Amino acid sequence: MDDVTLTRRIFARSWQCLAHESQLPQAGDYLAETIAGIPVIALRDAEGGVRAFRNACRHRLSPFVPDGAGTCGSELACPYHGWRYALDGRLKSATGFGPMEGFDARALGLIALPLRLWRGFLFIALSAAADDFDAWIAPVDKRLAATPVESWRYAARRTHDVACRWTVYVENYLEGYHVPVLHKSLDAEIDSAAYRVDVEDRIAIHHAPLRAERRGDAVYEGLWAWAWPNLGINVYRDGMMMERIWPTPGGATRLDYLYVFADPGADQSATFAMSDVVTAEDKAICEAVEANVAAGDIAQGPLSPRHENAVARFRDLMEDAARG
Ligand code: FES
Ligand SMILES: [Fe+2]
Repeated sequence: MDDVTLTRRIFARSWQCLAHESQLPQAGDYLAETIAGIPVIALRDAEGGVRAFRNACRHRLSPFVPDGAGTCGSELACPYHGWRYALDGRLKSATGFGPMEGFDARALGLIALPLRLWRGFLFIALSAAADDFDAWIAPVDKRLAATPVESWRYAARRTHDVACRWTVYVENYLEGYHVPVLHKSLDAEIDSAAYRVDVEDRIAIHHAPLRAERRGDAVYEGLWAWAWPNLGINVYRDGMMMERIWPTPGGATRLDYLYVFADPGADQSATFAMSDVVTAEDKAICEAVEANVAAGDIAQGPLSPRHENAVARFRDLMEDAARG
């Protein structure tokens, strides 16, 4: 199976963190995104709920809005021929369409997507065949039970483009083996000798205790989790960052970081500066590895059972997905 087909199959069944609820405060506020090649839109409806749809008009499939955040007022209007939809997805008017026998507006509402709110974050699935959400997230939920995640608010979104396939970047995210070699500034905060990664079903939890002398001033809390297939969950002392590792249509990767903090207005320059350094180091090594992976003529060597157990798990899950 080629990479594009496999990626589509995996993402069609998976849950994706699209937004934080606080990004959609008012009725008509929306956020549009293309996930694994599929345009989607989440919006706040007139009753105060959140809904997610394919960002596709039922006439000839124009998206309503380009990717990004905005507000559409009391309806979604198609920019192609002007069909208008209520915020709950009903087709209100096939503007100027003219008479047609058998035309049924009720059958032409927007295509709704499964959606779950989890501790303030909005997760969507790209198809009704998605995996069981609660079972999937349970190991993270358990680990964050005492953390006041729902009181945190959207603070920032930052993106980085990486010229490697998404799986190379995920594999890099899944091990701490490279930290002492590649990330000197991060290594100064954590006790690398005690670093380990636990795998529970489709979740990996990094245990990276802070060095004793850095407990008061470190940027990180020392909790990183990964949720199949492409989500990093990075917890700080007063906030967290959802690291969406999106595949792009060109076969590369966009890192899309969604930050929430207890005080969204506070100065986070130290957190962002550390993130920029670590991301640049990961980006450079992953792009370099991609060249040899893309060449396709030589295989990778063994994975360390001590350090790369989660990478092995990821590869098993990829193989399962390829088998169907
Ligand atoms: S594609 Fe939307 S009105 Fe034609
Ligand atoms: Fe790294």
